[in-house]
Amino acid sequence: MLDQLSEIEKSALEALQSVQDEAALEAWRVAHVGRSSPLMTIFGELGQLSKEERPVIGQAANRVKLALESAFAEKSDAIRTASLAKSLEEDALDVTLPGRTIHHGRLHPSTQQLRRVLSILADMGFQVYTSREVETDEMNFQLLNFPPHHPAREMQDSFYVEAGERGENPILLRTHTSPGQIHAMREFAAMNPENPPSIRLALPGMCFRYEQITARSEIQFNQVEGLVVGENITFADLKGTLADFARRMFGQSARTLFRASYFPFTEPSAEMDVECFVCGGKGCAVCKNSGWLEILGCGMVHPVVLRNGGYDPTRYSGYAWGMGPERQLMLRYRIEDIRYFLGNDMRFLEQF
Ligand code: DAH
Repeated sequence: MLDQLSEIEKSALEALQSVQDEAALEAWRVAHVGRSSPLMTIFGELGQLSKEERPVIGQAANRVKLALESAFAEKSDAIRTASLAKSLEEDALDVTLPGRTIHHGRLHPSTQQLRRVLSILADMGFQVYTSREVETDEMNFQLLNFPPHHPAREMQDSFYVEAGERGENPILLRTHTSPGQIHAMREFAAMNPENPPSIRLALPGMCFRYEQITARSEIQFNQVEGLVVGENITFADLKGTLADFARRMFGQSARTLFRASYFPFTEPSAEMDVECFVCGGKGCAVCKNSGWLEILGCGMVHPVVLRNGGYDPTRYSGYAWGMGPERQLMLRYRIEDIRYFLGNDMRFLEQF
């Protein structure tokens, strides 16, 4: 019987080792120390033993019982600790973790720059005038002094929407914001045809050119056109205004340079550069070692254009310019590829 007891103890302790949870532990308790377990059966048989055997077996059985009970208590503690640790880990609520951030939408970088330009111009007294993106050849070219087949059209390859029947006046996507000059002048002149009011406008918007897309040219881009018409407007007004704009846009120390140029709708025509803000004028890769960055085309409004707008060129004069907000951003942030603007890559857009 002593052998039997030690066998009972040994197999019970062995079985306990593989117990992992409360349910298995309860099953173990019933099987090994429960009322009908082999150990309890031995207690039940004690009465049938001899006087000499009874205390010996009784004591041994009690020792086994205590050993199993303490092993049970120990295991029960271990299971409870483990399950507490597990639930702490799984259901943890860490109040120090940052919350989920709300993703705010934002304006496209081109729109941001367009608004920056317009807000500077608004401070300088310019009123915003928007006009259509789909134009006739007459508006986009002819009234701006580009007759049909004029070689200057070569710079502005076009998307034609409707041609054929329309002969020399096909419909196209505007290649620049300059046709807005004609719309604006005609609208203002119509207010008082004998005495048209003076004009100080900014004309922003999308332009389209049928070009091969490369790192430097896109088929779609923004421009901001400026138009000032009045009596006694001179090239000095043009220079002063654009130099002031450059200082407001690029910093008070920004220097500007005017170079002679050609546009059919201005005479004389110029291009304005700002001193390279990357190298400070010393010469670097961004300014191609010239120290200057070209930012706009400008000039005195051509008499033919003034007349086409309803303004008498013997009485009125004016100046105009056209510049590209995307180009300004590219220079400012050294963006090497214009295709990023319309590429819809969040990694680019999110930087603005
Ligand atoms: N329309 C010209 C272009 O897209 C830019 C331009 C140059 C506009 C001179 C003007 C100007 O108003 O005076 O290339």
